[in-house]
Amino acid sequence: MNRPLVFALLVALAAPAAAQKFDALAQTPPMGWNSWNHYGCNIDDALIRRTADALVASGLRDAGYTYVNLDDCWHGERDANGNIQADSERFPSGMKALGDYLHARGLKFGIYSDAGATTCAGRPGSQGHEFQDAAQYARWGVDYVKYDWCATGTGEAQRNPREAYATMSRAIAAAGRPMVLSICEWGENDPWLWGRAYGHLWRTTGDIINCWDCTIGHGNWISSGVLPILDKQEALRAHSGPGGWNDPDMMEVGNLPTLAENRSHFALWAMLSAPLIIGTDVPGMSSDIRAILANPRLIAIDQDPLGIAAFRWIATPEVEVWAKPLADGNWAIALLNRTAQPRDFTIDWARHGELKDDLKGRRADFAQARFALTDAWTGRAAGTTAAPLVRAIGPRDTHVFTLTPL
Ligand code: GLA
Repeated sequence: MNRPLVFALLVALAAPAAAQKFDALAQTPPMGWNSWNHYGCNIDDALIRRTADALVASGLRDAGYTYVNLDDCWHGERDANGNIQADSERFPSGMKALGDYLHARGLKFGIYSDAGATTCAGRPGSQGHEFQDAAQYARWGVDYVKYDWCATGTGEAQRNPREAYATMSRAIAAAGRPMVLSICEWGENDPWLWGRAYGHLWRTTGDIINCWDCTIGHGNWISSGVLPILDKQEALRAHSGPGGWNDPDMMEVGNLPTLAENRSHFALWAMLSAPLIIGTDVPGMSSDIRAILANPRLIAIDQDPLGIAAFRWIATPEVEVWAKPLADGNWAIALLNRTAQPRDFTIDWARHGELKDDLKGRRADFAQARFALTDAWTGRAAGTTAAPLVRAIGPRDTHVFTLTPL
C-alpha cells in the first residue's frame, strides 16, 4: 500500500469543496493599515478618512501601504432582509461612500468579519450569512476581508475551521469581486497546512501587544509581544510564500516604547516576509516612525519576489543573526540584540564559511564568492565579506545588511 498516496487521498476527500481563490492578489505580502492595534473599537468614518489622507501625505501609500482595513466594530445591525449594515452613527455616509473615498486616493478598502455568530467584540458575525455578506462587501467595493474566529463554539461543537474558511472563500468567489482573504484563526488549527487553498494569509499566533518580550493572559487567551511571536515563526517558514503568507500579526511599529524596539520589530517582520500592516496612529506618528515604515530597502527585503522567510543563521542567547535569501543570489541578514544592554557582535565570514538554506536550496559560500554589504537602514556601503563585520548593537536594536555578490 502506498501510504503517502492513501493519506493524500484521505486529505483530499476530507477537504471541503475546492474554493476558487482569487490567486494573483498576494504574490508579495500585503501592505496597508488596520485600525485595531491602536484604536480598538473606537473607530469612525472621520478617523478612517484622516488616516487615508495621512497615508497619502506621508508617502506611505506610495511606499506600498495601500490597504486601509477597518477591524472590529464598524458593524450595525442586519436589516429586515438580513443584509449587514454599518453602524449609522459612526459611519453616517455608509460603507460604499467610504470605499469610494479610499479608491479615489489610490487606496484599497478592507473590512472585518468573523466565522462565528458574533465578532470578538460582539458585533454580528457572518456564520450563516457568508454569501450575503460577501455580496454586500462587493457592492461596497471591498478589496480585503479579515475573517476572525470568535464565537465559533468549543470542543465537539466547534465549527470546522477548513469548512468555515472555505465557505467564506467560496462566498467571495461567488460575489465576483477579487478580495484578499485574511484568515484570522490565531494558528490554533495549523492554518499554514490548509489556508493557502482558501486565503492569502493566515495568523500564526494569538494577538500581538505592544511590548518587547511579554505575554499577557486574558483568561482563555493570551497576547504576546515581539519576541515571543518571533520565536514561533521559524518552524513555520516552509509554508509561507507567494500567494499565501504566514501572518505574525499586524505591526505595533509606532506603539512600542523605544525607537530601537520599533526598528527591530519592523526589521524582523520584513525578514519574515510578513504582511506589513501598520497598526499605529498614522496622522500622529513621529518622523522617525515614518522613516522606519517607509524605508525602501527594508520594504524591498519584505517584498522580495522569492518570498522566502528568514531563518536563524547564528544564535546566541543574546544576539541572533537571521538570514533571508533574496532574488538574484542576494541575501539579507539581520543582527538582533534581544537584550536590554548594548552588545558587541562580530561575524567572521571566513570562520562561518557559508550561509545555507537547506529547506529552500540556497547557499552562499564565502570561501568561493565575495559579497558587498549595504546597511539597509541607511543605504550606506558597509564593506565586504573579505573582512569580519564588527558591530556595536544598541539595546533591543537590529542592524540589517543586504549582501550582493561581487
Ligand atoms: C481578535 C483578533 C484581533 C482583532 C480583534 C477584534 O482578537 O485576533 O486581531 O481583530 O479580534 O475584536
